[in-house]
Amino acid sequence: MADSSVSLKGSVAAAAAGTIDIERCRDDFPVLRREVHGKPLAFLDNAASSQMPEPVIRAYTEYHSRYHANVHRGVHLLSQEATAAMEGARETLRELINARSSKEVIFTSGATDAINLVMQSWGRANVGEGDEILISTMEHHSNIVPWRMLCDEKGAKLMVIPVSEDGVLDMEAFASMLNDRTRLVGIVHVSNTLGTVNPVKEITRLSHERGIPVLVDGAQAVSHMKVDVQAIGCDFFVTSGHKMFGPTGIGILYGKQELLEEMPPWRGGGDMILSVSFDEVLYNELPYKFEAGTPNISGAIGMGKAAEYIMSVGYDAIHAKEQDLLQYATEQLQTIEGLKIIGRAPEKSSVVSFVIEGIHPHDIGTILDLEGVAVRTGHHCTQPLMDRLGIVATTRASMAMYNRREEIDQLVAGLRKTIEMFR
Ligand code: ALA
Repeated sequence: MADSSVSLKGSVAAAAAGTIDIERCRDDFPVLRREVHGKPLAFLDNAASSQMPEPVIRAYTEYHSRYHANVHRGVHLLSQEATAAMEGARETLRELINARSSKEVIFTSGATDAINLVMQSWGRANVGEGDEILISTMEHHSNIVPWRMLCDEKGAKLMVIPVSEDGVLDMEAFASMLNDRTRLVGIVHVSNTLGTVNPVKEITRLSHERGIPVLVDGAQAVSHMKVDVQAIGCDFFVTSGHKMFGPTGIGILYGKQELLEEMPPWRGGGDMILSVSFDEVLYNELPYKFEAGTPNISGAIGMGKAAEYIMSVGYDAIHAKEQDLLQYATEQLQTIEGLKIIGRAPEKSSVVSFVIEGIHPHDIGTILDLEGVAVRTGHHCTQPLMDRLGIVATTRASMAMYNRREEIDQLVAGLRKTIEMFR
């Protein structure tokens, strides 16, 4: 059997309960040791893609170097090893989000693909003319465009929950917008642009009172906070591997088993069938019914290893570390004249978006890069939110568990230099 249980070196897990041994944690992430333009890298673009620790890289490359083979098909040893590793990863991901069964965990190419799966399968079967899909102003394009496409196809309406100037969801408006025509509520758990943490449990409770299913976009949640899909009660939950210290091109759709059973398949092909003739196709059981074709096997294994890594560090430790970084970054950035923080919700993840009077975010990002600081600039795939806030773009620093206060200092020094240059 291939060693799919690559050791986590006992490094970060060895820190005292509820804390992270930051130097040992950073040591697990090789990329953090590099320099950029002759400066130490301060990687503050984790909301776009977080970095991979060595156990994930090793598990990923070990599949390619020792047991690369197709899954669910071969009788030979390599195929059996690949199948066991991929199904082991599914089970680890089930544990991470506390799904009832690994049948409820479908591998996709990412959160976007998972939302598209729900739209194409559940949505096309359940949404008709005059029906409503309810989303929020702070959704990522991936939780807007599929629903816009469905509404255009079906003659349904896309309804939008407003957010305040501070980036807080208007829960009163939300409750009043639920009605007999609402077919689905699609809500982002944590805003990638603002850091706002939405009350997804309460949103689900209110929606379920009216029998309306809820899809939670958890792409920005899983690396920061414990997600328990059973406690939230949501019907669908999606996330991506590359935003939780895993590889790109892999993600999961969680769906309640009874809903997934009822849903028609979306993509057709190998592995999602029990038998095929030209006249009739019998579909495979869950979760394979939704996994047509050869999956991203190494991606799935890497994502499973990333989940294992997160659990070995522990969410209490991650939360404490990131909230300290959030508070420090917020305090330090506020000392810069002309800087305005965008997104002031009381409950936030470790994301700070900001604008600086008179300087375009792309210029800020380019100068920061020369100082070794990686941030994201632009509309962050949330153009309707930018329109609501009356801005075109922000600069966004997004922190992960391995970041240090020194990197915030490097960001602030880079911003002061930028402002000097534009004087
Ligand atoms: N959704 C990613 C971000 O927020 C790409 O940067």
